[in-house]
Amino acid sequence: MTAMRQPTILMCPPEYYGIEYEINPWMSRARGAVRETAQAQWRMLYETLLGLGVRVELLTPQPGLPDLVFTANAGLVFKNRFISSRFRHEVRARETPHFDAWFASHGFQVEHLPEGMYFEGAGDALFCGPILFAGYRIRSDALAHQEVGRMIGKVVLPLELVQGHFYHLDTCFCPLAPGEAIWYPPAFDAYAQRVIRSQIPRLIEVNDHDARRFGCNAVVIGRTVVVNTGCGQLTEDLEQAGYRVVTTPLDEFLKAGGSAKCLTLRLDGEEAAVWDG
Ligand code: ARG
Repeated sequence: MTAMRQPTILMCPPEYYGIEYEINPWMSRARGAVRETAQAQWRMLYETLLGLGVRVELLTPQPGLPDLVFTANAGLVFKNRFISSRFRHEVRARETPHFDAWFASHGFQVEHLPEGMYFEGAGDALFCGPILFAGYRIRSDALAHQEVGRMIGKVVLPLELVQGHFYHLDTCFCPLAPGEAIWYPPAFDAYAQRVIRSQIPRLIEVNDHDARRFGCNAVVIGRTVVVNTGCGQLTEDLEQAGYRVVTTPLDEFLKAGGSAKCLTLRLDGEEAAVWDG
């Protein structure tokens, strides 16, 4: 059993959320988000997490930063350290000062990677046990992941992402517990598939349909998994594996290429992470 601690998550209300540019295949300015629906869906996720006993910290929304809601990309949290992202796209790089300021004022040590390498935080770097699994090529660089591994003294396994629709690791891979994860194999190159299969004994494969519903982009709180609606097979498989599944509609955020997980950043360590030992 995990120690008694209250899960803590950073979120950012979708005050200025919208589809204002196109930096991944899900985004189309012609198919904008419906503001009221997005706000209602975000609120439902927020309340679902509160209902699960999560303490949610809120970042102040900023005009002109429509993707600031995707706090998973702020950086990587490791204990009291915050390794700030270096976004590939300038439109998102403008979020960094806001994330850095929040972490600095909340007792975290804010650290930056050398210039000239890209790293998109928890969107591309997820612990499963003591190993940091790291997606690269589309957003983050393999070199940046090595640098992160050196900074925190952890083993990093770089995984090449090969499908544009699954451009961040958290769109196709979700650690549930040490040794257990959800994943969508076609999003990875053959070698990355081998790495995942060899390192994680209990794997739940997500089918094409549920992957496109962002089933892998789930938030894990204890033995409960919060996921977008419409992931029927995954829901069944998770329940079979002993998890409780809570579904909540997040279609307005799929339009930006995000879902439950991207809208959150765990501040006290993910359920699957083993930071010591
Ligand atoms: N529109 C955002 C982007 O393309 C979505 C980010 C989703 N975040 C994630 N961790 N997958 O950067």
